[in-house]
Amino acid sequence: MVPARPAPYTSPPQRTPIEEPVGRILAIANQKGGVGKTTTAVNLAASLAVAEQRTLLIDADPQGNATSGCGISRDDFSAHTYDVLLGEATIDQALVRGVQFRHLDVLPTTPDLAAVEVELVDVEDRVTRMRDALAPIRDRYDVILIDCPPSLGLITLNMLVAADALLIPLQCEYYALEGLSQLLSTVQRVQDSVNPALDVDAVLLTMYDARLNLSRQVAADARAHFGDRVFQTVIPRNIRLAEAPSFGKPIVVYDVASVGAQAYMAVAHELIARMNSAAPDASAANPSSQAAPDAPAATSSASDPASPASSHDA
Ligand SMILES: Nc1ncnc2c1ncn2[C@@H]1O[C@H](COP(=O)(O)OP(=O)(O)O)[C@@H](O)[C@H]1O
Ligand SMILES: [Mg+2]
Repeated sequence: MVPARPAPYTSPPQRTPIEEPVGRILAIANQKGGVGKTTTAVNLAASLAVAEQRTLLIDADPQGNATSGCGISRDDFSAHTYDVLLGEATIDQALVRGVQFRHLDVLPTTPDLAAVEVELVDVEDRVTRMRDALAPIRDRYDVILIDCPPSLGLITLNMLVAADALLIPLQCEYYALEGLSQLLSTVQRVQDSVNPALDVDAVLLTMYDARLNLSRQVAADARAHFGDRVFQTVIPRNIRLAEAPSFGKPIVVYDVASVGAQAYMAVAHELIARMNSAAPDASAANPSSQAAPDAPAATSSASDPASPASSHDA
């Protein structure tokens, strides 16, 4: 018994389904809290690192859940995202390297980051701070993921300006799409001003429960609206994904056999395939199928990249 669904989000898609590769700097954004941004940032970053992609995860949420979710504590770093945005440290000085995996670096954060919204307000280059900070190091990475805060303030704006693409996690529940108009109009503003290349390149359905009509309906609406920009893989509701952060471990370390780990590995492989799809000698250069696991524990998670994970908890 599902109550009447709110009208689906109906404004026209920004462009037709993917013809271009997904960019390599992805801002994971949705101004709604609790939709799976941080869970996606940590676990997709870890899964990419397992697949031997040189990965940088930027924690841009003052709550610092991505930082702690990777097992980084306050003693592990001195400089952080705040210092980088304020120009008081370079990203190189603030990076924590080889986090859990050889190929995963993390730019950590602390609650201090919240002050950026006020401290940069009158600074002329306030929206390009992260883009400029990333410029000297971006080529060192295959993928840079940014965990954005649940707001559309100056921090998120910086990340949208720095990004090649937007990855929107959509929780499979009521109003999943309705809240997006504000985000999409912010994206439009960024496109019209500093970053014309920015686009919504990827949508990930999270907390999917195949037993619920509602989940299936949200998924259908999202696919109708965003076409093949929606990842084939959906992230199921999985208790192991919710438990892992309290152990400071990405899911591929905490429980590689869980459906949550399998799903994020599958998303990583989809993303790698998309990123490589238009690179000059793409498929020959770095097919995701050849990506060898970085950690022995993750071997079994390199499952069929295209198959959506089961929706039931392991
Ligand atoms: N697929 C999932 N299955 C179960 N719990 C999840 C899943 N994804 C996220 N969660 C939990 O939901 C809550 C919100 O997720 P989070 O990633 O922190 O969202 P956001 O960063 O968008 O605020 C967290 O407690 C997280 O552990
Ligand atoms: Mg978060």
